[in-house]
Amino acid sequence: MKKKIQPFLYLSITVSLFTAFFAPTVNAQSFFKNHPQINPFQYEIVKEKTFQKAAVTSAHPLASMIGVAILQEGGNAFDAAIATQFTLAVVFPGAGNIGGGGFMLARKNNGELMGIDYREAAPKKASKDMYLDAQGNAINAMSKEGASASGIPGSVAGMISTHAYAKLPLEKLIEPAIELAKYGFVISEREAKGLNSEKANFLRNSSAPSAFTSRTWKSGDTLFQPDLAATLLRIQEKGLAGFYEGPTAEMIVKEMNYSGGFISLEDLKNYRPKFRKPIEFEYKNHHVISFSPPSSGGIIIAQMLKMIAPFEVEKMGLNTEASVSLMVEAQRRAYADRAEHMGDPDYYKVPTQTLISDAYVKDRMKDYQPGVVGSSKITQAGIPHESEQTTHFSVIDAEGNMVAITTTLNDTYGNKTIVAGAGFLLNNEMDDFSVKAGVPNMYGAIGGEANSIQPGKRMLSSMTPTLVTLNNKPYISIGTPGGTTIPNQVFEGLVNIIDFKMSIKEAIDAPRFHHQWIPDVLALESDFPQDVADALTKKGYKVTKRGRFGRMDGIKYNADGSLSAAGDKRGDDSVAGY
Ligand code: DON
Repeated sequence: MKKKIQPFLYLSITVSLFTAFFAPTVNAQSFFKNHPQINPFQYEIVKEKTFQKAAVTSAHPLASMIGVAILQEGGNAFDAAIATQFTLAVVFPGAGNIGGGGFMLARKNNGELMGIDYREAAPKKASKDMYLDAQGNAINAMSKEGASASGIPGSVAGMISTHAYAKLPLEKLIEPAIELAKYGFVISEREAKGLNSEKANFLRNSSAPSAFTSRTWKSGDTLFQPDLAATLLRIQEKGLAGFYEGPTAEMIVKEMNYSGGFISLEDLKNYRPKFRKPIEFEYKNHHVISFSPPSSGGIIIAQMLKMIAPFEVEKMGLNTEASVSLMVEAQRRAYADRAEHMGDPDYYKVPTQTLISDAYVKDRMKDYQPGVVGSSKITQAGIPHESEQTTHFSVIDAEGNMVAITTTLNDTYGNKTIVAGAGFLLNNEMDDFSVKAGVPNMYGAIGGEANSIQPGKRMLSSMTPTLVTLNNKPYISIGTPGGTTIPNQVFEGLVNIIDFKMSIKEAIDAPRFHHQWIPDVLALESDFPQDVADALTKKGYKVTKRGRFGRMDGIKYNADGSLSAAGDKRGDDSVAGY
């Protein structure tokens, strides 16, 4: 069957952002002085490119280029990932972050795997019913906006733990982010629109105006973030204590006190990332590695890929009635398990090995009948939220070390609260907990005991940074934002590459679909083929069209040892390498 994919409209888009007239002197900047090829005031989005040795793909061209510059300075994939994460915190404030959390998945070239969970944790003052009113009803905004929505941020600690595997001094890896925050960079149209649309929310939730609210933005404007530069400098000088103690911690707690937040100085000081054993499984001769709880992503993609493995998906064709209904029935079953069985494994016994075992997965598909539409049999929980603002990036270095990181503030620009004086946004990750059994979160996902709130517990995530090896050699690093759509996107991306033999760029750009058990709705991207949408509706699926899901970034080895890197057509995502 012929692949139905959108033709590429471009390989690279030039962002016309040049404002040399306003560019500050760069003499004081050690990083940019040494890397004149990276110009924060004029840069290009590169959507797809093949490199001989190493590549980085992320949500922002500057972050990808800086990652590569660090590799060329002698850093490995871990160095590049740390520099990329800190850079994204400056150039992509809607999701790149130091006020949020994430998951770092890596495979070293010697085959060693590592998973660092730097997910936010519930503060000590948190409790199961903290977001319920006196009548026991969920108070909608409280887990979503303002200080009350924040979990204890994990990103800075996560990067410092990752640094154990890096080669260059941490100071060097933070330096580019400091310089971008201090001396500015030009913003894209997309960022200008994002900041403008949140201005009122930022002002309402934060105790003071910030760099983001200083004006109405347009493409090509320079964003200076002096408070953020000072915070990054404290981290550069003092490491963990530069964020989790001293002035930064005090500013966070002050912001908590301003709008009813729960995080204390003690919570911050006690925060630690956790090492997690990655999920591993086989799919059609490929070895897939992904993140374990408190992310649901690894278990879900293991279940779904195993559920469809007995079928000849490649013969059904990309985005056909047959392949979509098979994959949707797998999605329905895996997401039902997510709601019931998944949460922070340190607080709830998640039966991970059973859930991904061949016998269990086979049993789950026992009642699957090709051509018959399943039913989630439970009242619909509402239409999932459309935020696209988590971010994923992938790095592969010249030695074959692979890193996949997905990191987030949860919603776009998190809880819309900028820590006064510290210049960064906080997350609203507490909404990823099940605030009440059966009450949907902002992605329409429901949960129960497994994901109920407890002090110190980490909220269930869908983030799915994923690596694949082939014949025991590094092959793919991939991931995406998109809330509960994330595991489905990664599932579909892998099927596109493995079954439909698409290039990484084709696999990433192909139209996506999403079913999450509840609501019992099949959501299709707006460019999903209409004839197949009609056929699925006719068959009995409740089909809705949604704008777009996620911004997937990935890198894949080619047979000749070169690397193809791709950035999603859906964002400013951009690749770099050498
Ligand atoms: O961890 C999670 O599953 C969510 N907080 C991710 C949020 C997200 O992907 C938002 N962007 N689309």
